[in-house]
Amino acid sequence: MRGQLQTGLRARSRLAVYPIFRYRDSMFKRIDGVARRPKARITVDERPVYAEEGTTLAIALLEVGCIPTRHHQDEARAPYCLMGACFECLVHVDGASNVQSCQIKVRAGMVVRRPNGPREA
Ligand code: FES
Repeated sequence: MRGQLQTGLRARSRLAVYPIFRYRDSMFKRIDGVARRPKARITVDERPVYAEEGTTLAIALLEVGCIPTRHHQDEARAPYCLMGACFECLVHVDGASNVQSCQIKVRAGMVVRRPNGPREA
């Protein structure tokens, strides 16, 4: 079913079949009338994504429909609190593991990879 998480598949294969760039399907939209910032090109799982510079990475990922952001114990995870408390938004950024995407801002050229599995030490 499009737009819903699939169940019954192993986490790795679920990432492969779950499309991350569903601009039209994202339920997260910018509020009308809010000033826009220039877009920066970032890379998510080796695909180009254009996100507003200065917004948090978690918001940028939600906005482009990049959900889930990771899997853990065969469950899909995504940003939840957006304030650094829940750790559900962990991604790899520019080679660094376990980066809270809600705590860093989008900047041009950043390379993001969605982890698959438990937090890395
Ligand atoms: S969304 Fe909760 S820590 Fe980032």
